[in-house]
Amino acid sequence: MSVSFKAAVVGLGWAGQQHLAAYSRRDDVEIVGLAGLEADQLSALATQYGVDHAFADWNDLIAWGGFDLLSVAVPTSLHAPIAIAALQSGSHVLCEKPMAGTVADAQAMVDAAKSSGLVLDVVFNHRSHGELKAIKRLVADGGLGNPYHTRVTWLRRDGIPAGWFRQRALSGGGVLADLGIHLLDYTLDILGEPAVRSLSAAGFSAFSGERSDARPLEGRGESSDVEDFASVFLRLAGGGVIELDVSWAAARASADEMTITVHGTEGGAEAALSPAFEAGDVERFTAPTVGGESETIETPAGRGHDEVVAEFVAAAHGSIGEGRRVGSAALERTRIIGACYESMVSGREVVLA
Ligand SMILES: NC(=O)c1ccc[n+]([C@@H]2O[C@H](COP(=O)([O-])OP(=O)(O)OC[C@H]3O[C@@H](n4cnc5c(N)ncnc54)[C@H](O)[C@@H]3O)[C@@H](O)[C@H]2O)c1
Repeated sequence: MSVSFKAAVVGLGWAGQQHLAAYSRRDDVEIVGLAGLEADQLSALATQYGVDHAFADWNDLIAWGGFDLLSVAVPTSLHAPIAIAALQSGSHVLCEKPMAGTVADAQAMVDAAKSSGLVLDVVFNHRSHGELKAIKRLVADGGLGNPYHTRVTWLRRDGIPAGWFRQRALSGGGVLADLGIHLLDYTLDILGEPAVRSLSAAGFSAFSGERSDARPLEGRGESSDVEDFASVFLRLAGGGVIELDVSWAAARASADEMTITVHGTEGGAEAALSPAFEAGDVERFTAPTVGGESETIETPAGRGHDEVVAEFVAAAHGSIGEGRRVGSAALERTRIIGACYESMVSGREVVLA
């Protein structure tokens, strides 16, 4: 296949490197531009990927403008200004999660995508877990009946990220905005996008602030104004509920563990997911009225950013849905996360329109 698109990436951290690797594995994309503040890393990655146009600041990359696709993998508060500038200068945008720290920023991004006619896609790489795809198929085929209760967790014992992640003005929130957004996204996707009617959320900062304990956790010691543990209860249109628990740090056994359990009127499903997208199993259970049978469904490894980038490129080619995406689902996720923070502050349930 010949090259169809020229791509650029802003951000040189773990996320930016996933975009670079995913583009480099495609025949139809050439990586032409890169931006990021760490000079050594910038020149190392430019050399590794054969990129001729490398800039420290994102503004200079956009002003140069020699690309059709832009990946945005920088602190969350920069997502909206970079995405909007890129859309306005004629580039499709693939933006890391969370889409934005505020609903107003996310709405402005969607508005810019709509008026540009270009694609704005948001990275939800955890949808690519084989287990989640299998459960989504079970739900869609009616195999679980009405899935009235879903519990999702992503619990880390010791995984507080560094720097900007712990500053609300830069990140938009703590572990709920960082990891919880994935759980919210794929659970609503699996359940067929039911509207969220109301929610109640609690957040805790037991370990991420400054404490004087003898053994410092990774990332502890710097100031923090975000939660390191969140617990959310959501009521859905149709009467179902979701329970969501997520931690960067918690006094628990396992290092980094993701689980999903769905209880439906005709059956249930359970899986433990590998945060590194390894292959795994789904346990499917029959309804108690037909005996206590269960079945193990083997599922393949997830493709993570490779799958997200493939869908983004397909959307830019005009071959997904109506030919473009404008970030509407991600905007809805941003609204729900915003309501969760409102509930954390008020200590009350929030009713969504
Ligand atoms: N989808 C996932 O699985 C996943 C995983 C990790 C992070 N993320 C998301 O990716 C984004 C980046 O996270 P990260 O962990 O890679 O962060 P990071 O802190 O490791 O990297 C951030 C990068 O942004 C660059 N940057 C900051 N200001 C800049 C500017 N003015 N101009 C150009 N570059 C600038 C920095 O130089 C750095 O290279 C965040 O939105 C995060 O939530 C997603």
